[in-house]
Amino acid sequence: MLNEAILEARKLSKRFGGLIALDNLDIRVEKGKITGLIGPNGAGKTTFVNVVTGFLTPDSGKVWFKGKEITGASPSKIAKYGLVRTFQEVRPLEGLTLLENVLIGGIAFTKDLAKARQSAFEILKFLNIRTDLLCARDIYLEELTAREVKLLGLARALATNPSMIIIDEIAAGLNPKEVDEVSEILRKIKEKGITILLIEHVMRAVMSISDYIVVLHQGKKIAEGTPREIAQDEKVIEVYLGGEFNARG
Ligand SMILES: Nc1ncnc2c1ncn2[C@@H]1O[C@H](COP(=O)(O)OP(=O)(O)OP(=O)(O)O)[C@@H](O)[C@H]1O
Ligand SMILES: [Mg+2]
Repeated sequence: MLNEAILEARKLSKRFGGLIALDNLDIRVEKGKITGLIGPNGAGKTTFVNVVTGFLTPDSGKVWFKGKEITGASPSKIAKYGLVRTFQEVRPLEGLTLLENVLIGGIAFTKDLAKARQSAFEILKFLNIRTDLLCARDIYLEELTAREVKLLGLARALATNPSMIIIDEIAAGLNPKEVDEVSEILRKIKEKGITILLIEHVMRAVMSISDYIVVLHQGKKIAEGTPREIAQDEKVIEVYLGGEFNARG
């Protein structure tokens, strides 16, 4: 029997002029799991994220979150329902402290500023971001490491107290040790009961932490299954994994 879906997209299509970015796509994300969404550049992964989180309207198809239809709802409304996303390019707001950068994620969700501040502080501690930078002074993008910039995006999402986070590429630009550290953080987020959809090219991360993987190619789902099944899927190997990955990692 199928487990409970927290997010479900059915027959989702999105075109950009003559280009079909999403082609009649059905995707189901199980509650409480880490689902990986992978595929070559231009496969439609970020477009899928944009459509399900309200940043783009689909041409056709529907999206449900926690059993409620959210097709065409605004990003802020969808975030209030408990579904948030991070961005492939994280842009810190310069001139604000690191803490304020995280606080901004949560401020729309509570009227209690002291509580939002405390929660932002706890999130930064949980993510193991340099606490000496926290609130002493303004921070600038150049002062943050690649790891801190990525984690800041995650911190902002966590500040909204979500039931599900869609993470659009967190491991790119990190060294293998940092990739493992971020993977461990994602496992801990899952342990908190938060569902994760992880869009990722770094196979070391996605194969080790995903419970289930969906593979896109040219806007279509070409495979889905456990990491082991996906690593051995001939179609996936042909269009995506090629020589860069094998089942033994
Ligand atoms: N706003 C847009 N206008 C026109 N074309 C777009 C737009 N956004 C995406 N596309 C095109 O849609 C296709 C899917 O892009 P998308 O960004 O969803 O891919 P992706 O799977 O996230 O790729 P990557 O792994 O490189 O991030 C690509 O061909 C892209 O050029
Ligand atoms: Mg993308």
